[in-house]
Amino acid sequence: MTTTLPLNSGAHIPQIGFGTSQAADAARSVAEAVRAGYRHIDTAQMYGNETGVGEGVRASGVPREEVFVTTKLNNGHHDPTDVHRTFQESLDRLGFDYVDLFLIHWPLPFLNTDYVDTWKAMLQVQETGRARSVGVSNFQPEHLERIIAATGVVPAVNQIEVHPYFANNELREFSKARGIMVEAWSPLGKGTELSDPVIAELAAKHGHAPAQVILRWHLQRGDVVIPKSDNPERIRSNLDLSGFELTEQDMAALDALDKGEEGRRSPHPNEFGK
Ligand code: A2P
Repeated sequence: MTTTLPLNSGAHIPQIGFGTSQAADAARSVAEAVRAGYRHIDTAQMYGNETGVGEGVRASGVPREEVFVTTKLNNGHHDPTDVHRTFQESLDRLGFDYVDLFLIHWPLPFLNTDYVDTWKAMLQVQETGRARSVGVSNFQPEHLERIIAATGVVPAVNQIEVHPYFANNELREFSKARGIMVEAWSPLGKGTELSDPVIAELAAKHGHAPAQVILRWHLQRGDVVIPKSDNPERIRSNLDLSGFELTEQDMAALDALDKGEEGRRSPHPNEFGK
């Protein structure tokens, strides 16, 4: 049973979710993940796989209401009328009458459409009850400050890039201090950090896989994680994190891997989508 964490909306989010952005066959891997015990699935309009995600949840045999499902607003849909229209299209593709969480995928601060207006439309969607919680992704401190100041409503979640080489601590702390749950995307650094010697040594010490060591680091930092995998065995092992605990010293060794901006693997959110 995955630990759940409280959101400022009153909802609870399972701390380990399944990321689907790379899924070759979302219906198959989502069904596999839910059967393996995941109760949180992360998708997005951008991934083009909402239909498969809905099919996978239904095929798992687990009731819809027991699975926390997130989708995200695509970059071309920031205009408030597009928010309403495309949100309903997402629900239709998923085959659900609500999602647990709806996020603005990227801030796109260079657009003519101000993301503050996009956020206001997200709040209207939430009022209809079809998105139980709403939040943002890849928002920097200045973006968070503006939407909160304009509406008085704090996003439930900020889903951001976090992995050992890019610990993103400043933004994490800024978000947490405002009661925003941090979700780490690409928690494994897209798989590239698994061969790091410090991680390999900790994996050997604890008798667990390098990916499990990294995911355990995230959990002990209090973040939600959404690792991705197409491999049934790895889908299962990424959820199986309760059999060991990292010591303070282990945590410090992983913290020391942070390379700051150099460790970022995707464009800076002020640039992404330009
Ligand atoms: P695969 O699909 O072959 O398992 P992230 O979630 O940080 O973006 O990382 C995803 C990448 O990490 C994928 O390429 C995935 O490959 C790989 N990966 C996921 N889980 C594991 C694991 N437990 N061991 C090794 N590689 C993994």
